[in-house]
Amino acid sequence: MKVPHVLAAAVLASTILLPATPALAGLPEGHQPPGLAKQDTLRWVAPKDVKIGTAVAGGGHHETQGYPDPFTFDQEYRQRLAAEFNSISPENQLKWEFVHPEQGVYRFAEMDAIVQFAQENKQVVRGHTLFWHSQNPAWLEQGNFSKDELRAILKDHIQTVVGRYAGKIQQWDVANEIFNDNGTLRTTDNIWIRELGPEIIADAFRWAHEADPEAKLFFNDYGVEGINAKSNAYLELIPRLQAQGVQVDGFAIQGHLSTRYGFPGDLQANLQRFDDLGLETAITEIDVRMDVPVGTEPTAAQLKQQAGYYQRALEACITVDECNSFTIWGFTDKYSWVPVFFAGEGEATVMEEDFTRKPAYYALQDTLESASPGRGNR
Ligand code: XIL
Repeated sequence: MKVPHVLAAAVLASTILLPATPALAGLPEGHQPPGLAKQDTLRWVAPKDVKIGTAVAGGGHHETQGYPDPFTFDQEYRQRLAAEFNSISPENQLKWEFVHPEQGVYRFAEMDAIVQFAQENKQVVRGHTLFWHSQNPAWLEQGNFSKDELRAILKDHIQTVVGRYAGKIQQWDVANEIFNDNGTLRTTDNIWIRELGPEIIADAFRWAHEADPEAKLFFNDYGVEGINAKSNAYLELIPRLQAQGVQVDGFAIQGHLSTRYGFPGDLQANLQRFDDLGLETAITEIDVRMDVPVGTEPTAAQLKQQAGYYQRALEACITVDECNSFTIWGFTDKYSWVPVFFAGEGEATVMEEDFTRKPAYYALQDTLESASPGRGNR
């Protein structure tokens, strides 16, 4: 069979293994920020015990945009992904609708490529996610399965997906967004909780643990930056599960912030109270969006405010003992989900569309560096 040129390029792009410190060659003249030298990256200055991560763009909203799959095709994106970060999270490539599009059919090629990339570039991987109310395929949501069937479907999914990447995924967001803002469980929109009852949450963790006993298992949610009804609900749930012998290792805070609102000043205190329970914590999806009416650029004041939010969040994580992972939800505005989901808002990541570093980037770099003066960390 004759392989079309574009397909050949795709295959090539997805199999090229980049060195840990990619060369600058190939970047357009005058296009590169002050250095992709390995000493001038986030991972190099990160304290040894804190992973600095990003989402890997692909799936989800990217599929309706006017560009090909970023991770597969954008070489400059891949270079920076390798150079800047020592942890990566699939943005959509492990969500049910992507990885399990038809009953009994798994689509692993994209995630396999991400895991291979991580191994080649000495990065750890966060798995996201196994148990969620959103981005589920129609065959599942509209399948009219019996309780026994649903239970078997969930168990098979968790064991198949976690098992495939056993030893290769460091942390799993086993359950994502299971509580409403008022601290009650999502009993209507989460298919698993609605159909099988709250006990299924413990089973999800048990099955994940069986499939990879080494992986650290987390709850993950938004709107839990501060001390509030939702974070209180996790603080109550996690020890209760542990008392039943269920392995839960950590509590993760997404961190989708907006300059419309004040910075959640109790973030550190909130992380600390989970740390006090003996849990690991993580910031898993931080971005800081701002109002950018069509045709306008962010002001210097907005960019400064944004940088301050990133910095304070990172400082909170670094200060808390077992906050070991800080992940930004994309590193360039070129691929951010924010303008697609929040009308009139954007500019939420630390680099512009052409990868120019924003004040927020330097805030992260400086914060990491001052937490580990003089140390180089690949
Ligand atoms: C978002 C992705 O960034 C988009 O590409 C996709 O279209 C929708 O989901 N909380 C989560 C993430 O846990 O999985 C979401 O990611 C953002 C909110």
